[in-house]
Amino acid sequence: MRFPEKVKLVEVGPRDGLQNEKQTIPVEVKLALVNRLSEAGFPNIEAASFVSPKWVPQMATSTELMASIHRRPGTLYSALVPNMKGFEAALAARADEVVIFGAASEAFSQKNINCSIAESIERFREVATAAKANGLRLRGSISCALGCPYQGEVTPAAVADVVRRMRDLGCDEIDIADTIGVGTAVQVQRVFEQVATEFPLAQLAGHFHDTYGQALANIYAALSIGVAIFHASVAGLGGCPYAKGATGNVATEDVLYLLDGLGITTGVDINAVVDAGQFISNHLGRPSASRAGNAIAARRSPEHAA
Ligand code: HMG
Ligand code: MG
Repeated sequence: MRFPEKVKLVEVGPRDGLQNEKQTIPVEVKLALVNRLSEAGFPNIEAASFVSPKWVPQMATSTELMASIHRRPGTLYSALVPNMKGFEAALAARADEVVIFGAASEAFSQKNINCSIAESIERFREVATAAKANGLRLRGSISCALGCPYQGEVTPAAVADVVRRMRDLGCDEIDIADTIGVGTAVQVQRVFEQVATEFPLAQLAGHFHDTYGQALANIYAALSIGVAIFHASVAGLGGCPYAKGATGNVATEDVLYLLDGLGITTGVDINAVVDAGQFISNHLGRPSASRAGNAIAARRSPEHAA
């Protein structure tokens, strides 16, 4: 067991969380959410996505959003970019970090970004060069690292292969993503152990969706081998439009409750995140998917006090 003392928690709710919502969310609501999350103290917020609006209509307001957010010193604001068109938009929007997103499964790569893994790497090469030339941080995200909705099993070797290619593009950080939340604890450890032979463990992140209720166990398993960067989504929002049946990311409030209990510091104020979670859930008209968030909110409510 070699738990980290400190974890970098990346809040992905405004992007991964909201991209899958059917109802159009006004940019003012997204703005209020990002500003609340900034105030909560996250070192990194994935705020936007510069993809085709035909593919993901909800992200079409990314330019407007990025122009209006209150940028907290100490927070990096990231944006997904699938190609140079997305990169140019992210650069103009003053993103601090761009995220190129590929997959460890050929079938998912085709469904999500309409090209093979090899073609995606070639597309990313130009983006990576431009990111470096403009002084932007570069992150790589690898979907279906623990299983694919179309092809089923994905081997750790297939994940390591994409990690190697993203490393060679110059990624500063690489995300191991369980897009459909099927992974289990020991499998997670095996994948991280294998990919850590290609890329420093300290720069690898765990991105877990909670479809099968395994995300917290998977985070605990990853923590125990030293993984120190995790993604989470306020109120457990999320899903991928190109991964049918996949539910939200692990809820940020639940991850913070776990980390606080382990004495691992994040610099993030759980109470402010609970408020942000209640805010967006009220707007969406459904209860938050965060167990800890709802429990903390209920403990604070006047009925509970009475
Ligand atoms: P394509 O149709 O092959 O691309 O899509 P194209 O180059 O032929 O362009 C088609 C049209 O899209 C053109 O417009 C382009 O201008 C436009 P038209 O001439 O038809 O009017 N276009 C763009 N518009 C705005 N911004 C752009 C852009 N690029 C082209 N950047 C493409 C290829 C990659 C664009 C498309 O497949 C796409 O946008 N895919 C994005 C899918 C997506 O966003 N998925 C969700 C994010 S990934 C995720 O959630 C997983 C993650 O959370 C990790 C995990 O959990 O696994 C990160
Ligand atoms: Mg995701």
